[in-house]
Amino acid sequence: VAEEPSVKIRPYRATDRDGLVDLWRIAFPNTPPHNEPARMIDAKLAVDDLILIAEESEIVVGACMAGYDGHRGWLYALAVRPESRRKGLGVRIVLHAVEKLRELGCIKVNLQIRADNAEVEAFYQTLGFAREDRISMGLRID
Ligand SMILES: CC(C)(COP(=O)(O)OP(=O)(O)OC[C@H]1O[C@@H](n2cnc3c(N)ncnc32)[C@H](O)[C@@H]1OP(=O)(O)O)[C@@H](O)C(=O)NCCC(=O)NCCS
Repeated sequence: VAEEPSVKIRPYRATDRDGLVDLWRIAFPNTPPHNEPARMIDAKLAVDDLILIAEESEIVVGACMAGYDGHRGWLYALAVRPESRRKGLGVRIVLHAVEKLRELGCIKVNLQIRADNAEVEAFYQTLGFAREDRISMGLRID
């Protein structure tokens, strides 16, 4: 995978807010209101700051959110701007997030992919993620 060295991957800063909102709007166009980008950022920062930003010339070109609950690590909302895709940036962001989770003591990283987004499975497979025989369940409590 080709590297794009002009892109820096670093923790989220307050000044990234508009750029991250823009990125997530582009990458996840049919987002339900409870996943509205600005709301996601505020809710995440109220708990911890595990948001990674890929920046190129002060533009947010990629991002990922991670979480560690003391048992498992999770990745959420990985996105790369369309014009920056297929240059290895998604891989670099995930590797940074995985390293952060490892530093926190995490030994297993999970993620969910929507059934209508199956091509992302090929992306995660290149990183060694494998499909597991689990039933994914959820409960809305809002
Ligand atoms: C998924 C996503 C983050 C990948 O970012 P990226 O920077 O393009 O990924 P990379 O360049 O690091 O890809 C690495 C490898 O993954 C595989 N891959 C990446 N995108 C792929 C696709 N759309 N279809 C099939 N394989 C893909 C390829 O093997 C690729 O290597 P190659 O380009 O040498 O063939 C990007 O497509 C994206 O933002 N998608 C929209 C948002 C989304 O669906 N996010 C995931 C859900 S949480």
